[in-house]
Amino acid sequence: MIDRRTLIAGAGSAVAASVLGAPLASAARRSGGAFPKGFLWGTSTAAHQIEGNNINADLWVIENLPGTMFADRSGDAANSFELWPTDLDLVKGMGLNSYRFSLEWARIEPDKGHFSNAMLDHYKAMIDGCRMRGLHPAVTFNHFTTPRWFAAQGGWQNPEAPDLFARFCDRAARHLAGGIGHAMTLNEPNLSGVIGEILPRQLMEGDRKMQLQAAKLLGVASYSPGVNLWVENAAVYRANQMEGHRRGAAAIKAVRSDLPVGVTLAILDDQAVGQNSMRDRIRERYYGEWLRLAARTCDFLGVQNYERKRWDANGALPPPEGSPRNGGGAEVWAGSLAGAVRYGWEATRLPIIVTEHGVNSDDDALRAWLIPAALKELKAVMDDGVPVQGYLHWSLLDNFEWGFGYHHRFGLHSFDPKTFKRTAKPSAAVLARIARANRV
Ligand code: GAL
Repeated sequence: MIDRRTLIAGAGSAVAASVLGAPLASAARRSGGAFPKGFLWGTSTAAHQIEGNNINADLWVIENLPGTMFADRSGDAANSFELWPTDLDLVKGMGLNSYRFSLEWARIEPDKGHFSNAMLDHYKAMIDGCRMRGLHPAVTFNHFTTPRWFAAQGGWQNPEAPDLFARFCDRAARHLAGGIGHAMTLNEPNLSGVIGEILPRQLMEGDRKMQLQAAKLLGVASYSPGVNLWVENAAVYRANQMEGHRRGAAAIKAVRSDLPVGVTLAILDDQAVGQNSMRDRIRERYYGEWLRLAARTCDFLGVQNYERKRWDANGALPPPEGSPRNGGGAEVWAGSLAGAVRYGWEATRLPIIVTEHGVNSDDDALRAWLIPAALKELKAVMDDGVPVQGYLHWSLLDNFEWGFGYHHRFGLHSFDPKTFKRTAKPSAAVLARIARANRV
């Protein structure tokens, strides 16, 4: 199986980091590279990808099906459910001041309507643990995975879904909102239901079969997990996520009106090439309605960017020859983050937080190069007046990369799958140096 964003970005052949060139000429250092005081520097994670043994989550069923398309089972992951204090120490040790993580709905509401105070306390301890270390907690209420019972009742296609999500947000906010710094409802919902349009048929068909197999195993009519390539009714799925976001955000605000609430969107840096480029149509298709909804309902926009894409009148152009590539073969282009951030701001006029940016690569030199190169471009955009409030790198640790399992590595740290010992990669020191200096 393949991840959703990589599919949008397309693929190519890998080259060594040694061919890295200068990304953009426009990175003028107008204010000497200094970021504003209070700028958030952090790393991003998601519960299912690092916690381990998330057995009530929808995806656990899919990962463990005989013949699953998933490359690995999530299994123990990085055992961060136990080791979160170690993780927070790593973030603090890098001199960062923020940590993005997600609540696991399946742990907090393991059965429909039954909320676990112990699990809410677990996340409260993490939030308090952030505060004790001087880290600003940026909390995603739902990062893709939903409870198994939710998927078994139609997932986001269930007419009840928006209310169920809003009820979860209400309960979680009442327990946790006091300590949260920034709250995010859903992660990258803009890709839901549209990704299938550009997928090879056999992947979609394989995903459909896994969902049918899971439904059969559990004896339910349908099984619709939050991580998917195929959805039966994309229009309903999207409409329910949009309504879920609206009601979820309102529920959080009802508990704490001064808490900034946003949504995170996956945004490529889509560039128009030549006459009649299809770029704007692509933008409308993949981001349009979510950007409009965010503008009406959010205090900030979380921008998640990994790649650029160049569009002419007929389609996407292949990456320039010799360009650096990530582990999946897609182009790595340092200016893409700044381009996506500028677009997100122009479309919404909301303050921006970079809630994810990074690179899938076994070659940490590529990551160490990308971080300062992308941040120089980001700073140039900020100097043009785009209000960016933070940069949260994906990811603190190598982790369970959905369909790719443990084969795609985005971490500033690796971990040993037996002892769970974390080891910093050289790129961690690169981000640490920039964050400590608050300049690039
Ligand atoms: C995002 C997603 C993350 C992580 C990352 C790297 O789309 O929110 O969970 O998988 O991409 O692939």
